[in-house]
Amino acid sequence: MIFIFPRTLRLLPLLLVAGLGSFLATAQTSPAPNAQLASKQLNDRVDALLKKMTLEEKIGQLVQYSAGYATGPNASKLRYEEMVAKGQLGSMLDVVGADATNHYQHIALEKSRLHIPLLFGQDVIHGHRTTFPIPLAIAASWDPSAAELVARSGASEARADGLAWVFSPMVDIARDPRWGRIVESSGEDPYLGSAMARAWVKGYQQDDLSKPDSVAVSVKHFVGYGAAIAGRDYNAADMSEITLRQVYLPPFHAAVDAGAATLMSSFNSLNGIPASANPFTLTEILRREWGFDGFVVSDWGAIGELVNHSIGDGLTVARKALEAGVDMDMEGNLYGNVIAGQVRSGKIPESVVDEATRRVLRVKFALGLFEHPYTPAGPAYDATPERRAAARKIADETFVLLKNDPVEGVGTLLPLTAKAKKVALIGPLADDQRELLGAWAVTGDPKYVITLRTALQQRLGDRLLYAPGCGLLSGEDANVLRHVTFLGPVAGDDHSPIPDDAKTIADAVETAKKADVAILALGEPTNWMEGEASSRATLGFTGAQEQLLEAVVATGKPVILIVLAGRPLELKWAAAHVPAILEAWSPGIEAGPAVTDVLFGEVNPSGKLPSSFPRAVGQEPLYYAQLPTGRPAHGDLSHFPHDAGEKFVSRYMDEENSALFPFGWGLSYTRFSYSKPTISRAEIPASELIASAGKPVVTVGVDVKNTGSVAGTEVVQLYIRNTSASVEQPVRELKSFARVQLAPGEKKHIEFSLGFEELSFYNADLKQTVEPTTYRIWIGGSSLATAETSLHVVE
Ligand code: NOJ
Repeated sequence: MIFIFPRTLRLLPLLLVAGLGSFLATAQTSPAPNAQLASKQLNDRVDALLKKMTLEEKIGQLVQYSAGYATGPNASKLRYEEMVAKGQLGSMLDVVGADATNHYQHIALEKSRLHIPLLFGQDVIHGHRTTFPIPLAIAASWDPSAAELVARSGASEARADGLAWVFSPMVDIARDPRWGRIVESSGEDPYLGSAMARAWVKGYQQDDLSKPDSVAVSVKHFVGYGAAIAGRDYNAADMSEITLRQVYLPPFHAAVDAGAATLMSSFNSLNGIPASANPFTLTEILRREWGFDGFVVSDWGAIGELVNHSIGDGLTVARKALEAGVDMDMEGNLYGNVIAGQVRSGKIPESVVDEATRRVLRVKFALGLFEHPYTPAGPAYDATPERRAAARKIADETFVLLKNDPVEGVGTLLPLTAKAKKVALIGPLADDQRELLGAWAVTGDPKYVITLRTALQQRLGDRLLYAPGCGLLSGEDANVLRHVTFLGPVAGDDHSPIPDDAKTIADAVETAKKADVAILALGEPTNWMEGEASSRATLGFTGAQEQLLEAVVATGKPVILIVLAGRPLELKWAAAHVPAILEAWSPGIEAGPAVTDVLFGEVNPSGKLPSSFPRAVGQEPLYYAQLPTGRPAHGDLSHFPHDAGEKFVSRYMDEENSALFPFGWGLSYTRFSYSKPTISRAEIPASELIASAGKPVVTVGVDVKNTGSVAGTEVVQLYIRNTSASVEQPVRELKSFARVQLAPGEKKHIEFSLGFEELSFYNADLKQTVEPTTYRIWIGGSSLATAETSLHVVE
């Protein structure tokens, strides 16, 4: 039986650390978000163990090192085995496999004084051994159950490899594709991001950490990391607290509410305070407001790097991080060295160390590591038909049809028909297993990837012609970038040879001329230029790919462009000159079969963009939920005392404001129509809305009809605008969505509920509230939805 402490009791340790005054001001009575971590039985075990521990052993639980490859600057070559035996190391990352993890676990269990098991963590980002599409693509499915399934697969495969903890999901809001980590995110929107965050957590943890195939999540990176100024990784973030609460925190809160066991603190500073030493976010919000009982691990080396943030020397920053609420030091090389002395000298109260240790031990107990510390050796991994079927099904849902205009005399190019007798497949991403795997598939193996070329070859035989076209990088770029890859230099690695672009483009043109249709597979080097430390100042295709595209289009042959990338690329020329464009992201092991499903119409594309695609990089950060301006470029200028014309408005002189392809955008091989939405009541008193405490108060309904001739799935999206509030609200905000399957001619009535959660905002006093206003409400197939109704909130 699980006993949930009364809230006030559960917060007692915090109270000792934080002081009674501030505690009383924020004490809450809400239930614990993770009942397992709050259970009395579990906490009794934790406390009993804690009593036996020396100060050094407690600190050992707060130390983590990597004994495998490095995802950052390595601390040093330490003697891990000796540290484990002495109880100086409580967790390791990047040690993978039953043998490797059992090796260290035996030392912990057999040689250390208290036999406390190690917790092994790892970056499991889009699957573990079975590689699925990248997280941004999964968000493009607008299908939380897809995220849950990917997490489930990752969890059970990770657990079979001795890993009980994954550094996933990344729930950072990413509004600037220059930032390479957008690939790991769910895109720009807090509502979609929160839905995905909940699903990832559920898939990994199954609401029960003790299950043998559950893993603890580490929700990252807390917080503001995605708001890096100028899209440059590790850069500072600076934003109002309203923006923090309304945009950047919601996915973290959703994950914590879903029971997340751990969080990872981020590298960036937030409003001048480094996120890995920020008591406001790590203690005030995370623990006092949200009731989080798990632990926080720092990002790689982030505690050591606090010295570079200029907030003190090593001793000071370690103390600040620990007191702020970072419980475990990942590779920062500080907690193990400088905390004990400061406790002994009275600089740090031992209760702070106790509390951090308690949080770490809670998770170890909840995971059942004390009962089942070892991992039985299992069969060697294989990409079985079941695993492939799951990867293909998920990938099928993630593709976004950006454009499918009819070509004169041919009609729409997609789906491909039997009329296309000869098909030319061209481009550096058409046949590259490693690049198609995606940006962060640490334990994924490229050998399992079925490329576009292989899949099309199987289907078309000698009707398929192929030419690589050009390299992903050319000249100097290639020489530089081959040395700054995620996993170290790849010089000598021949997976992406650098050809003579002029010659290979000429070959590709000749190949296209021999075909009825050309399919171009273009993008960017996903392994070299996406993910961590992979910011870009430009967003075009890399190398000579744009020239390749232009040269093939110039042949006059109909062209289908398949974009393979982990960030929105700048597709302006392509959108103007290429009739059919499919965004396929990085699809994982079933890349070829899944793309082929959509090319041949066996799967009707249903993905929608989770991120706005710019016309020009200078528009970034570009997102649909902009705040209003007094001088909008389009719309009502009647308040101006004079005719502003087109000059004195918020616009670029040389580019449109709007996205090339907006948030929520995605076409289908069929068409959908929307009725005028209806609302269950037109008016509601603000007081009723406030008192509704999270319960829905109105229902908005709409009829959606498939008016085409094939079955399809539409992502029906609901947006609101609060037209009059004491604090400016975005011009549109997503507040609900549903994936709806419709047979040709079929019509379905869809209903969405709205309540305080969806309609409230943070006022100037940082209170979540509603005020008398009118909400405009739109329902449609993208953020450009036009079918509209409204709701009046009265005094
Ligand atoms: C640094 C990355 O920022 C983080 O996402 C990752 O989990 C850690 N390294 C561990 O590899």
